[in-house]
Amino acid sequence: MSTQIDSLLHEDRRFPPSEEFAAQAIASAELYERASSDRLAFWAEQSRELLTWSKPFTKTLDWSNPPFATWFDDGELNVAYNCLDRHVEAGNGDRVALHWEGEPGDTRTITYAELTAEVKRAANLFTSLGVEAGDRVAIYLPMIPEAIVSMLAVARIGAVHSVVFGGFSADSLRSRIDDAEAKLVITADGGYRKGKVSALKPAVDAALASRGELPEQATVDHVLVVRRGENEVDWTAGRDLWWHEAIADAEPEHDAQPFPAEQPLFILYTSGTTGKPKGILHTSGGYLTQTAFTHKNVFDLHPETDVYWCTADIGWITGHSYVTYGPLANGATQVLYEGTPDAPHPGRWWEIIEKYGVSIFYTAPTAIRSFMKLGRKIPKQFDLSSLRLLGSVGEPINPEAWMWYRKIIGNKVAPIVDTWWQTETGAIMVSALPGVTSTKPGSAQVPIPGIAIDVVDDAGDAVGAGGGGLLVVTEPWPSMLRGIWGDPDRFKETYWEKFWDVDGGPFYFAGDGARLDSDRDVWLLGRVDDVMNVSGHRLSTAEIESALVANEMVAESAVVGAADETTGQAVVAFVIIKESHLEQASGLADITGALRSWVGEQIGPIARPREVYLVNELPKTRSGKIMRRLLRDVAEGREVGDTTTLADTTVMQIITDKMVKST
Ligand code: WT7
Repeated sequence: MSTQIDSLLHEDRRFPPSEEFAAQAIASAELYERASSDRLAFWAEQSRELLTWSKPFTKTLDWSNPPFATWFDDGELNVAYNCLDRHVEAGNGDRVALHWEGEPGDTRTITYAELTAEVKRAANLFTSLGVEAGDRVAIYLPMIPEAIVSMLAVARIGAVHSVVFGGFSADSLRSRIDDAEAKLVITADGGYRKGKVSALKPAVDAALASRGELPEQATVDHVLVVRRGENEVDWTAGRDLWWHEAIADAEPEHDAQPFPAEQPLFILYTSGTTGKPKGILHTSGGYLTQTAFTHKNVFDLHPETDVYWCTADIGWITGHSYVTYGPLANGATQVLYEGTPDAPHPGRWWEIIEKYGVSIFYTAPTAIRSFMKLGRKIPKQFDLSSLRLLGSVGEPINPEAWMWYRKIIGNKVAPIVDTWWQTETGAIMVSALPGVTSTKPGSAQVPIPGIAIDVVDDAGDAVGAGGGGLLVVTEPWPSMLRGIWGDPDRFKETYWEKFWDVDGGPFYFAGDGARLDSDRDVWLLGRVDDVMNVSGHRLSTAEIESALVANEMVAESAVVGAADETTGQAVVAFVIIKESHLEQASGLADITGALRSWVGEQIGPIARPREVYLVNELPKTRSGKIMRRLLRDVAEGREVGDTTTLADTTVMQIITDKMVKST
């Protein structure tokens, strides 16, 4: 790893903005000056400029009770009004909000006026189903317009959404519904993935049925079902309602009421270092300010002419901030695509870019690397000349992929913004500003205006240019998480305790390692905790380990993230099988195959291990802590590192000798 990092830091290619781009750029160097002369005044000014406040705020930040911040606290606004009605009122009702493309090729074009009308009906419908301000609504939908309509209608009535990625299992869905005590679940019969309908409703039925043992906890009154896959579904009379029937009956008029700036907007669950996912809480005014600001300036958005496309699913934070809230607050025209990149053919994405004339494209390094593998021939069959700006998010982008992205997709001219942020930060924190920054392949570069970050050592001291350490945010920011749903102690412990008492602290600890080069540009080096990053998705080793030991065959397990050429990291599991099951098993390949599927069913297909190794022992320190570092050496096919702190130093030899690898 360290030789790779050193070679990264010797990257000396620079791409200054072209004169044409700079001349029309939305962002300017002046933003940095304004933000550094008075950071809070800068954010207040941005918020007033970008959003419509029903009641203006007079206070910007309250940080008197860290780590609990409030932003624009005495102001009031309606988030959905800001994303919809005001654009219609400004005369832009006919502007396309969504160019939706279904995987089989069916399409829907939805203008701001139409989207507003649909959200009004949905808001009335949710209210008639008993959803009130502050109540939680779970959304488990494919990438169809109703997903965005649902999020905005929940926001419009001051309720709180919890979007659960459609690839998650019934179990994962149930724990999220339970934790947030959702009242309403919105789902679909199914959605298209890889050429077939993948059912969603059965997972909702299973999630709700398995809660039957605890009737007092059964908070869900209704399940709204969008018809998309046309697949057969089971029906629970009284509980289940078809979306298209209920929405047709709903009142069309709806006045958006203002809510306080700190009204909770959504909960989004993300993996942490323990087995239990954390419900990250975001609120309204600060979140919308920073998503709108970054969407406009980082993506150089000209809403009258640009066609923007972010490929993220709304089940992740990127979909929340850069499909739903940022773009719609800015009145952007965007593409929304239901399916996978390679269905029905491997050029599908490029075909969509050509078809809609996409000018701004935001995706993940893992996707870029898979396209690189397939070769330039595929994108070269399409006209990509409309693209003028490219974005990357989710994990470090290696310089080779960055160069390919620029050359093959960006026609050697489009600037690339590598955006570092997290579910917790809510919006982009570190990125080049197009038209201003000279870009560097592989580096996320600089904090955006108004954001204060640093790289520090374990004691919280700045490492300075050329140094490596941990990435921290040193000042509160508008779209920061406001907490972990129902668990303020875990919020403090996870993000703040490490750098609580340091000079200028407390600092927010992001969990990422980073280095500053001689220009003070930031290079992200991956997670420093037991969190893996697989295809830009966060997975916790502990969560997968607990899924594995929940299988009756498994005595013990350890999971590591091993480097993978395409997905960044891949899940590799080391498992000790109970003696009794080893004897019964018909073949070892059966066991490893069964365990891979088991994890897929327990958590979701993205968590399915690439490999399962059956071992008789796990390497542990004398205090019983599993030494994942050594297992990672094995998983990545390296010489096993220093084993002197193991309780039993022969264990690694036994593991490498006896390892049985799955296929
Ligand atoms: C983790 C956050 C932010 C939306 C997608 C992931 C990694 C994210 C970058 C980047 C290097 C990155 C970090 C971070 N990460 N963007 N541009 N360069 N690493 O959101 O699931 O909350 O994961 O993704 O490790 O901590 P998330």
